[in-house]
Parts: sequence; C-alpha cells; structure tokens
Amino acid sequence: MTALHASCPAKVNLALRVVGRRPDGYHEIITLFQAVDLWDTLRAELAETLTLTVEGDAVESGEANLVVRAARLLQAECAEARGCGARLRLTKGIPAGAGLGGGSSDAAGALLLLTRLWGLTLRPSDLEPLAARLGSDVPFFLVGGTALGRGRGERVDRLPALPERPLVLGSPPFGLATPEVYATLRSPLTVGTADVTVPPLFVKFAEGNDFALARNDLEVAVFQLRAELATFRDSLSQMGADLALVSGSGSTVFGLFRAGTDVTSIASDMRGKFPGWAVRGSRTVDSGVRVAPAVE
Ligand code: C5P
Repeated sequence: MTALHASCPAKVNLALRVVGRRPDGYHEIITLFQAVDLWDTLRAELAETLTLTVEGDAVESGEANLVVRAARLLQAECAEARGCGARLRLTKGIPAGAGLGGGSSDAAGALLLLTRLWGLTLRPSDLEPLAARLGSDVPFFLVGGTALGRGRGERVDRLPALPERPLVLGSPPFGLATPEVYATLRSPLTVGTADVTVPPLFVKFAEGNDFALARNDLEVAVFQLRAELATFRDSLSQMGADLALVSGSGSTVFGLFRAGTDVTSIASDMRGKFPGWAVRGSRTVDSGVRVAPAVE
C-alpha cells in the first residue's frame, strides 16, 4: 500500500513588527519567517476512515488537532476528497506552544500529504487559502525557506534564501498561548510601516551585518508574562549571537550566530545555566514541508 511521509520544519521569526489592530480582532503584522532544522514528521496511508495517532510531545490527537482540521477542511472544500480516509501518524520533534510553528507546519504537511495521497487535482495556489483558514502561520510552511509574512502573517512572499547560519533554540518548560500574548500587548500599536520598509530589512539581513531593524514587537508582552525569557535572550547575546529574540509569541528564544560558530557547545553551556530548558543547536534551512514516499 502507498504510504507517504511529510517532513515538517519549525520556523523562527527573524523580525516581527506589529503595525496595527484589525477590526476582526487580529493584529496586522510584518514578519520575516525563517525555516529551521527541527522537524515533526507526518506519515499517511490510505484507510477507510480518518484517524490520527501522535507520538512524542503530549498533543491533542482528536478533532482539535490541526492535522485533523486540515483533513476535514480538504474534505469539506474539495469534492474529490469527500469520503476519503487516511491513517495518519504524527511524530512530534517540535515543542508545542513554543512559537516555532509546529502545529502550523503539521497542518501544511497534512494539506500537501493528503492532496497527494488522495490524488486531488489541487494546485499549490488552491491550498494557500485553505492554509490561511487553518492558522496565520500555516501558509508559510507551504513555501518555507526565508519569506515575508504580511496581513495576519498569512500573506506570504518567498524571498531569496538567507545564507545558512547556525542557531541556538531555547524552549523553557512551559508554552505561551498566542492569544494571551497578543491580548497582553499594550504598547502603541501604530508603529507605522514607514520604518519597516521591507527591502532594506531583508537586504540588511542578507548582508548579515545589520540587525538593527530586527526586533520582535511581541517581546514586551512576552517578557511581561515571563521575565525569565529576557534573561535567556540576554545570555545568548553575551554568548555572541548576532541576533537574539523571542520567536513569534514565544516561548522559544533563539540566537542567530555567525557561520562556523560551534552552536552545540553554546547550547550545552546554556543548558547548564538554564536547567529545565530544552536547548538545541540548529541551523536555517531553505525549504518548507517536504513530501516523499515513506520508506519503512
Ligand atoms: O491565526 P492563529 O489561529 O494562529 O491565531 C491565534 C490567535 O492569535 C488569534 O486568535 C489572535 O488572538 C492572535 N493573533 C493576532 N494577530 C495575528 C495572529 C494571531 O491577534 N496576526
């Protein structure tokens, strides 16, 4: 029987600027997404009904899981998918509630995997609006690499890949809920787009030597909720990170280092200083979700 396998990467936000509040309750943002080398995997084979099992992190495996919601959305919106079933197995490597986009990446993985498994005649451009309905970060994972997100974050433009860089990812033993972080945000929300003009932001990153514009406007709220995340961030800066920031709405804090830096030993030092945190060396990657035949 045909079985397919999706590798679903994590992301960090190299910059996240909140530029306004919207009538629909969301916030208008401009963000620079970057896929990173930390993965969930999703395996699917044809079956009579739709079932999901989850291995790894304690994540909901019922109808609320974004993988199941993605499958149900395909069935609802695509006549060819009606009545199709699949046995899905999700193996979590990306911590949940961590600002790394794990659930969103899994949802994008489910859309791509099931489109292929069920032989649906959907183009990538047909999947984008479905992805956006599942969550603001989901469309990014259809694209991956380095990309600009606008609107809620769901309007994605692929950018030339940044030169590969090593990263340290630090996830504390708790997650943060995105709605709570946005609700806590009380700083002026009219940053204005003039100082966030996108080409300079990107070019400065690509040159690799100017991170002045790279900030995360959600940090104010995140640090109000969990001050220890600021301590971790400052420690990464002291270790020589070119850029140290909270990713998205947290709780992960990352440090972006110069090519050639031994991030494994920095991660090990940081684990010593911050007991209970999961600290990993990683690197930027130039892809989104990858689907291939399962080999087992
Ligand atoms: O789109 P997603 O389901 O990931 O968003 C989760 C929550 O985060 C939203 O319900 C909203 O409270 C908040 N959010 C926001 N502005 C965004 C993205 C998310 O206010 N751009």
